[in-house]
Amino acid sequence: MTQDELKQAVAQAALRHVVEGAVIGVGTGSTVNFFIDALAGMRGKVRAAVSSSERSTERLRAHGIEVLDLNQVEHIPVYVDGADEIDPAGAMIKGGGGALTREKILAEAAERFVCIVDSSKLVPVLGAFPLPVEVVPMARELVRRRLRDFGGDPRLREGFVTDNGNQILDVHGLRIEHPAELESRLNQIPGVVTVGLFARRGADLALVGGADGVSQREFD
Ligand code: 5RP
Repeated sequence: MTQDELKQAVAQAALRHVVEGAVIGVGTGSTVNFFIDALAGMRGKVRAAVSSSERSTERLRAHGIEVLDLNQVEHIPVYVDGADEIDPAGAMIKGGGGALTREKILAEAAERFVCIVDSSKLVPVLGAFPLPVEVVPMARELVRRRLRDFGGDPRLREGFVTDNGNQILDVHGLRIEHPAELESRLNQIPGVVTVGLFARRGADLALVGGADGVSQREFD
């Protein structure tokens, strides 16, 4: 199976977790794009979506799925999103697509986070994938110096502006043994908008596409 076929299989499997008649939270990325396309088949059964990026919003609307502003929505039973890495406890690195801030907001707002990945995203320890950190542009160099104190090599994502008008530093060379602790510490640096570590609010369920089909992992 190709990687796209694995992504398509988990996207399809995620449909079983969509709550009919409710608002669905929708993330960003190539795996989520397959999910959005699959969701189009359930159009009449989903009340509406809230989305973590302009890209996903556009794709949802192109399929005729209504997209609401989060401020209009009180209850999101399920949020479906991908990840760049996920560890055995359900902690993730996200933000490869640059949508980490809105993704973190939707993850917080939702009752249940269903993470859809192919098996290449499973790692024993987070950090081989460079950790994205969204920063307020005027604080970029200050944040970069502070991030170096954590042992990483922060590199500016060239030519990229987030949906919130900010920049991204991708931090290379970290080995993240204690993701929740690092997430809290990095969150304290003035100028950091969002850290792409999703450990304090990790996944509740991972659907993993592999050579033997889609497997499921529940996290506490
Ligand atoms: C976007 C994300 C994505 O979930 C992550 O980058 C995975 O993307 P893909 O499904 O394309 O591998 O965090 O900000």
